[in-house]
Amino acid sequence: MNKYDSDIIKTLLLDEDFEDVSTPEEANFVLINTCSVREHAEKRAIGRLNSLKGLKNKKPEVIIGVLGCMAKELPDLINHPVVDFLAPPDSYRNLVKWIKAKKNGLIPEYKNEQYSNIFISPNNISSYLSITRGCNYFCSYCIVPYSRGYLRSRPPNEIIKEAENLVKNGVREITLLGQNINAYYYKGVDFPGILKKVAGIKEIERLNFLTSHPKDIPLSLFDVMAEHKNVTNYLHLPLQSASNRILMRMRRGYTIQDYMSLVNKGRKILPDLTLTTDILIGFPGEKDEDFKETIMAVKKIRFDQSYMFAYSERKSTLSALFNDNLEERIKNNRLRYLIEVQNEITEEKAHALKGKELEVLVVDKAKKGGKIGKSKNGKIIIVNGVAKIGSSYIVKINRINGWVPIGEIKKEV
Ligand code: 5AD
Ligand code: SF4
Repeated sequence: MNKYDSDIIKTLLLDEDFEDVSTPEEANFVLINTCSVREHAEKRAIGRLNSLKGLKNKKPEVIIGVLGCMAKELPDLINHPVVDFLAPPDSYRNLVKWIKAKKNGLIPEYKNEQYSNIFISPNNISSYLSITRGCNYFCSYCIVPYSRGYLRSRPPNEIIKEAENLVKNGVREITLLGQNINAYYYKGVDFPGILKKVAGIKEIERLNFLTSHPKDIPLSLFDVMAEHKNVTNYLHLPLQSASNRILMRMRRGYTIQDYMSLVNKGRKILPDLTLTTDILIGFPGEKDEDFKETIMAVKKIRFDQSYMFAYSERKSTLSALFNDNLEERIKNNRLRYLIEVQNEITEEKAHALKGKELEVLVVDKAKKGGKIGKSKNGKIIIVNGVAKIGSSYIVKINRINGWVPIGEIKKEV
């Protein structure tokens, strides 16, 4: 979501004849887009601000702005020695005025901001497209509803217009975005409805969506995925914990049994479904037996990949009031163990692809040679041989490097 927001900001600035430069040293103003979801993300952003102290001393006229959730959540950042202004997530339309006027302080936000009529210019064949902003769920650990506000769904015609504009500019892979994308609803159109409409744009070869909440997935979503060849058979479905006691304290609104049954139904309709998840370890009050339940579920469900985090307390959230926080040492030990378990599964799943032939869309150059490709179920494959970005090929997987499948082109599709 932040990458997409950065593209919105860039579009707003380029439209006003600002220019993009590649290093802070060349810039007249520097914008840092930030995330507050975990303490670690905030620490990294503060490290980045500290590293700009030398620049600000040498060139005091350089203007430095903090954008995004930290601008909303940490107003004291305005006192940081390099910071001139703070721009929270719904304030970006005011950014240009603010920079031109060289104003300091907190930029006011717009109510109901959806960044309508701003169409980002893609510089790749893959692009994000946000269809909702904010979230109405208050999972007890999560800062998002506070920093990004309540849920707003964009009108379908605007989403279609933006998708068509992306396609016109060469995009072939679109990832629809929402904090809880299944909560999308606009005048009778729900998430499966809008997914179907966007999938109808036939120039889109891969259509993905992030992030799904297990409480909100209707079974018709799997049917829409099955009916449309260009919708990737990929689902990111955060589990967070497999202990019902912890899930309840997290206010997630489902049990592990609900989650399992949803996954089983999804896998029945889409047998090649790639399934990834988020897991939050060390939530206040998590006991050894709760953690064991999570490990057992990870072994049973066999996610293709998990994004695993240790709990960090976030200001204003309900769980910040809980008084049974775990020691860092316990959280870190559990996290390390979980990562080991998942890594083994990820590796086994990657090796199972050896010898298989897959249809792959080439989306970019790979850093260490070859090209990056995406299979029809969202797997990332390194493609060797003469492959054109934007073309599809049948690729035979002949080796696995770590977890990354590497393949040779058999033929163009
Ligand atoms: N501490 C640690 N991880 C968190 N996440 C959200 N809030 C917190 C927190 N307070 C994780 C969740 C979520 C992902 C985006 O970040 O797993 O799904
Ligand atoms: Fe946060 Fe996602 Fe829960 Fe919304 S649904 S409160 S974004 S974890």
